[in-house]
Amino acid sequence: MQKVNNDIYNDYGDRWYTANDDPIALLRAESKVKTPWIIAKIKEFNYLNTDTKVLDIGCGGGFLSNALAKQSLQVTGIDLSAESLKVAKAHDETNTVNYQVANACELPFEDQSFDIITAMDFLEHVDKPAEIILELSRVLKPKGLFIFHTFNRNLLAYFVIIKMVEWLIKKTPKNLHVLHLFIKPSELKQYCLDAKMKVVEMVGIKPVFSSIPLAKLFSGIVPETLKFELTKSLLLSYIGVAVKA
Ligand SMILES: C[S@@+](CC[C@H](N)C(=O)[O-])C[C@H]1O[C@@H](n2cnc3c(N)ncnc32)[C@H](O)[C@@H]1O
Repeated sequence: MQKVNNDIYNDYGDRWYTANDDPIALLRAESKVKTPWIIAKIKEFNYLNTDTKVLDIGCGGGFLSNALAKQSLQVTGIDLSAESLKVAKAHDETNTVNYQVANACELPFEDQSFDIITAMDFLEHVDKPAEIILELSRVLKPKGLFIFHTFNRNLLAYFVIIKMVEWLIKKTPKNLHVLHLFIKPSELKQYCLDAKMKVVEMVGIKPVFSSIPLAKLFSGIVPETLKFELTKSLLLSYIGVAVKA
């Protein structure tokens, strides 16, 4: 079995925020769609207030943690990569996010400590997502929200998310993603149910192919114009919310 490459996150440095010849630029572009969607959901569930405690698991360079801190939420961001956390902290304009090195398999928090847990582009980076979902549910309060984004497992996702990225983006690290770790929406729903959480919403996210100028398609870089959009289809990647009982 191919092993997903999680070592790369130790070497990005400020390239988390600047690189355009690396798939990290796709994460940045995608977060422009994910972040407003997540903030809208937090508001819809009446959690957009200064008492709300959020845990962002696998927070990487802090795109989401830092954006949620700007909404005055109390944010903790954890990641295995201390180097990524340094970058995340340097970009935290609020200087309020509690960044900690920690392993999602064993969260260093008491039971029922958080109102919201987020995991963006994270579950497909671990071998046992079901166990991690059980662990994160432990630290989530009753009626708390689990907000996730991950990739579906099918041939189209393999072609678009793994192969096209390898072919078109110059510095795509080897085994950035591996197909067997992608998660079908039905599997994720079941993992959540097993952890006493019910998925109440899922929506797809896809690139707007027309936002890639043809002249830039084979340039090896991610064009500044690239946009992602929400879609009904969950075939590629999907974002969603589960509520704890
Ligand atoms: C694709 S990045 C996503 C970063 C961020 N959530 C985002 O969307 O920009 C995956 C992150 O998960 C982290 N990671 C992988 N395994 C982990 C684990 N067991 N515990 C905590 N973090 C982990 C990696 O270090 C990396 O920063």
